Amino acid sequence: MSNSNTTKYRAKIVGSGSYVPPDILTNADLEAIVDTSDEWITTRTGIKERHIASREMSGVDMAVKASEAALENANWKPEDVEMVIVGTVTPDYRLPSNSCVLQDRMGMVNAGTMDIAAACAGYIHGQSIASAYIESGQLERILVIGVEKLSTITNYKDRGTCILFGDAAGAVALERTTDGSGVLSSFLKSDGRLGKLLWIPVGGTQSPYPEVMRNGGVQNGEDCLHMAGSEVFKQAVRQMGDAALKVIERSGLETKDVDMVVPHQANIRIIDALRKRLDLPEEKVYVNIDRFGNTSSASVPLALDEALRNKTIKEGDNVLMLAFGGGLTWGASLVRM
Ligand code: ACO
Repeated sequence: MSNSNTTKYRAKIVGSGSYVPPDILTNADLEAIVDTSDEWITTRTGIKERHIASREMSGVDMAVKASEAALENANWKPEDVEMVIVGTVTPDYRLPSNSCVLQDRMGMVNAGTMDIAAACAGYIHGQSIASAYIESGQLERILVIGVEKLSTITNYKDRGTCILFGDAAGAVALERTTDGSGVLSSFLKSDGRLGKLLWIPVGGTQSPYPEVMRNGGVQNGEDCLHMAGSEVFKQAVRQMGDAALKVIERSGLETKDVDMVVPHQANIRIIDALRKRLDLPEEKVYVNIDRFGNTSSASVPLALDEALRNKTIKEGDNVLMLAFGGGLTWGASLVRM
């Protein structure tokens, strides 16, 4: 069966799950590692603590836990899943992809798989692709995951970045519906010209590890995230704001119709600036950055899962999701629950 003018297929969120590892890195812990303070981190970022995975726990280990919870919540069996889309820049292996490893671990034997490397915007890219597959009538059930073990690409000698990042996974089950709910509109955009505002210099084909090792190894954390924080900050506010207005308009709605915003949890000041630009009250913007920090592609599904489980988001709500990350990449999506 294909989509037609009489039957409008949409991708409805029918389940979600998330996982954070048990170990917590507090601002006080960071004070002992780099020259910083709880006061600086709290006022400049809104972050109080983040969860860090142990050496033994991989990204896929976290993704399995989030996916199991999402499948149970959706009342799906692993074999019901037709596509697994994983947003990540910290895969378990360079090959095979996280989505293939996850498919195997979960027994999702009927699924196609793909990984998306759009950094913090990875989940929103995955959800947009899933929605397009479902709207076109090609697939009915897709699992989208955002997972990062950012602690493996964080330089704990760089106070400008190490205070920000945490490890986590979030998973969302999207299913075909014709009841008028689901993803109403999505928007994705990138600006590759600004790629080096947020990048990892070493480890790819431009600077392969064997060559780096022959030349004395990594000296200054070049295999970790490098970020021009204040430029990224300005871009994030501008681009997520524009993307938000675009999907609201494309959905035939107005800002006042948005019941809840689930923004990428990068910095409380970015979130506040977006809220002011959209002229929304505080209670309409979901914030959990204080407890988890920036978990990159896991950030939006982690916050969404929490908001669904604590009933901040309810059936019928119009939910605006926003993300921004390395690439630079960004996107927005308006979803009726
Ligand atoms: N503790 C104390 N002082 C610090 C720290 C710290 N942890 N980090 C930086 N500083 C200092 C700087 O050295 C600088 O000092 P100086 O004025 O003497 O040179 C001063 O604080 C101001 O530094 P800025 O970098 O200008 O601080 P800013 O207010 O921009 O905050 C931050 C930095 C938190 C990184 C902010 O820029 C930010 O959140 N940027 C956006 C992050 C983001 O959105 N990332 C996107 C996604 S990440 C991804 O895709 C994986």
